[in-house]
Amino acid sequence: NAGSLWGARFASGPSDALRELSRSTHFDWALAHYDIAGSKAHAEALAGAGYLTPDDFAGLTAALDRIDARVADGSLVPGPDDEDVHAVLEQALLHEAGAELGGRLRAGRSRNDQIATLIRLYLRDHVRVIGLQLIDLVDALGAQADATFGAILPGRTHLQHAQPVLLAHHLLAHAWPLVRDLDRLGDWARRADASPYGSGALAGSSLGLDDGLVARRLGFSRTVENSMDGTAARDVVAEFAFIAAMIGVDLSRLAEDVILWSTRDVGFARLHDSWSTGSSIMPQKKNPDIAELARGKAGRLVGDLAGLLTTLKGLPLAYNRDLQEDKEPVFDQVVTLETLLPAVTGLVATLRFDVERMAASAPEGYSLATDVAEWLVKQGVPFRDAHEITGALVAVAESRGVGLDGLDDAELRAVSPALTPDVRSVLTAEGSVASRTGVSGTAPERVRHQLATLTERVRSA
Ligand code: ARG
Repeated sequence: NAGSLWGARFASGPSDALRELSRSTHFDWALAHYDIAGSKAHAEALAGAGYLTPDDFAGLTAALDRIDARVADGSLVPGPDDEDVHAVLEQALLHEAGAELGGRLRAGRSRNDQIATLIRLYLRDHVRVIGLQLIDLVDALGAQADATFGAILPGRTHLQHAQPVLLAHHLLAHAWPLVRDLDRLGDWARRADASPYGSGALAGSSLGLDDGLVARRLGFSRTVENSMDGTAARDVVAEFAFIAAMIGVDLSRLAEDVILWSTRDVGFARLHDSWSTGSSIMPQKKNPDIAELARGKAGRLVGDLAGLLTTLKGLPLAYNRDLQEDKEPVFDQVVTLETLLPAVTGLVATLRFDVERMAASAPEGYSLATDVAEWLVKQGVPFRDAHEITGALVAVAESRGVGLDGLDDAELRAVSPALTPDVRSVLTAEGSVASRTGVSGTAPERVRHQLATLTERVRSA
């Protein structure tokens, strides 16, 4: 079984069906660069412990660098019979460094500790990319909040008009979850910052290698504490998968608002031509495909997480081949998010808001009723009664088909003597928004402060 990492104790080679099932090069080749980095660090540890002469070490390092260059320029690729990334790279090393020297590198390590390390290195790099992309999106939301500052739209609960809010407040309500996702990526990086290299197959190495050196060379601040845990645990991968799924869900909720705002019926936002799509039959159509793909891909990102957790559930310690299934879900999440995030950022950055239409809609649906009730409280009416009085007022206005500001003094008084003409002072969306001065409220000065806090948070991320 030439080219395999095992086989001497087998009387026959693997069947075609086994080979086909077992092969992982079509996805784990993405880890080739990290595997070579691990090999160089491992060679240094072998040299440090006296298993390689300085010349051997230099020869291996040079050979590994040549292989890395061939991976990068595409002249080294897996063949149909190669089992995994490790097998391809060992073959290449035997070729580059000769069988005698190349054959020394495998001492004291296993594919089990290698792969557990490589997936961390891969995710660590992509966490940085995704983090920067998230910051771009938060910046785009902040820039829109700034550009539209003062615009008011109907805030909704149950999708019904509830109370007027600043558009900036609404946009920032989509930014904060993304800031928390950024925090989660940072927390993840701290937990993932331990190298499993040196755990061997499961029990650690007997060769007296300096695992701490390998960890440092690979950019980890420490090694894992337990070699069985190091090779068998995948919570670091699952945690990444959760964060990716959460980002997908957060993008999907933002997308749903954009879809709603851009409908003919709501009409609060227009999509930029470069960030929307047309129809092959209906010439007039302009569709929010980016937002819909964001909503759709959330399902896929969640599915990747669910699949991974299901794979891990019930696995005995230590390594099991099931663990090979950890990679495709997170690779899929990485590609999905890195493609999706810039598109959503462009969509958000180029939205044009119809500020007049939003303003006209803001007080509709009796969305100032809470302001009337709170005005009554300020006149000394218990809130329970204020709620009843305002509810009755809404019923009168609704039966007459007018807004609260369409009732005359006598009609107000008929509902309650407490409803003096002064109540009209709170019957504007601007007044309502301006009055909500609680720390997290939608009053303009609060939202200004909120925007500054958000910008500050993202700068220090
Ligand atoms: N390809 C495997 C994985 O992705 C690593 C190789 C370990 N294989 C083994 N037979 N121990 O998990």
